[in-house]
Amino acid sequence: MIEIQKNISLKPYNTFAVDVQADFFVEVKDEQDIFYLISTDVFASQPHLILGWWANILFTKNYNGLVIKVSLLGKKVVKQDGNTVYIKAGAWENRHELMMRALKQWYVWGENLVLIPGQVGAAPVGNIGAYGKEAKDIIYEVEGVDLTTKEKKVRTNSDCKFGYRDSIFKQELKNKVIITAVTFVFEKQSTGYVPDIQYNDIQDSIWEQWIDPTEITAQEIANIIISIRENKLPDWTKIGTAGSFFKNPVLTQKQYEKLLVKYPELKWNIVANGIKLSAGQLIELVGYKGKSQWAVGTYVNHALIIVNNGGASGAEIRAFAQAIQKKVLELFWVTLEPEVIVI
Ligand code: EPU
Repeated sequence: MIEIQKNISLKPYNTFAVDVQADFFVEVKDEQDIFYLISTDVFASQPHLILGWWANILFTKNYNGLVIKVSLLGKKVVKQDGNTVYIKAGAWENRHELMMRALKQWYVWGENLVLIPGQVGAAPVGNIGAYGKEAKDIIYEVEGVDLTTKEKKVRTNSDCKFGYRDSIFKQELKNKVIITAVTFVFEKQSTGYVPDIQYNDIQDSIWEQWIDPTEITAQEIANIIISIRENKLPDWTKIGTAGSFFKNPVLTQKQYEKLLVKYPELKWNIVANGIKLSAGQLIELVGYKGKSQWAVGTYVNHALIIVNNGGASGAEIRAFAQAIQKKVLELFWVTLEPEVIVI
């Protein structure tokens, strides 16, 4: 049975640790709870926000509406087809633990995505990614309750319209679906396993640890990535943060060439729709790496990570982010777009 609470602090429910309140707050633990919730007057009369995305949200004010915490748990193998295994996990399952559990049984392809904070239900929303892999590479299907039709619906990988840190759930279906479970597809590690180890940081670690790249295991890759992340990124349980605050900007060839003349040191990657620059490097070059104002700052080891050093308000964090955007625009004519959802 659900209990709709009033005036609840959202501090424990956002990794930025911003202290704002929600007018109404409810936790749903199964599909029955969801169907009951959507029949209530509070649901019908209030705007609502689905809190699967708590590791990537910045609250700048109190939320005048209903916050829904989707606490569905459970994970199981739903299908096995030769070396391919399909694992379905509830929206509130911890993603990192799921990837590690799969690796323990030699099920690979989640190894590059270890230690990214957050829950299973948020993986398809922002198509989370790191070290050359994205959630879309291992998502088979996404199950949820559509709040408009009030029906349960399963969406295939292509239905989700995945893009760089983007999906249908951030666009036309924003706040219109409660994701209840995600089915991931893994493969048993076999002799034909070709890992994704192109990323510079991974190559450096392989070299330093004298690992033979032709024999590397998925478990070893996970360990390397855990150690890279631990060294470079803050621990959100100790320092408020939502990871990368901005997306890496993608420029046209022409824009990039113009910039290159003045800044040959810029790091770049060719992507499908242009040339991707490193937002972290741009922020460092405008002098914002490790810089703080009020209780907000960028992390000393990574300029793309905005941190709440304790007690910062969401509005202060937003103002700090806007100051960074302004500087980057002035110097590089590049607009940084937040990856974090700002409310
Ligand atoms: N860099 C700097 N200065 C900095 C930070 C980075 O010069 O202060 C340079 C680095 O030297 C490197 C380049 O920028 O050459 C890229 O940095 P990094 O490898 O740390 O990755 P990123 O592009 O900043 C992206 C994702 C991260 C993901 C990493 C690793 C986005 C917005 N961020 O960051 O994802 O973990 O790659 O794959 O795409 C997240 O989305 O929250 C997140 C942490």
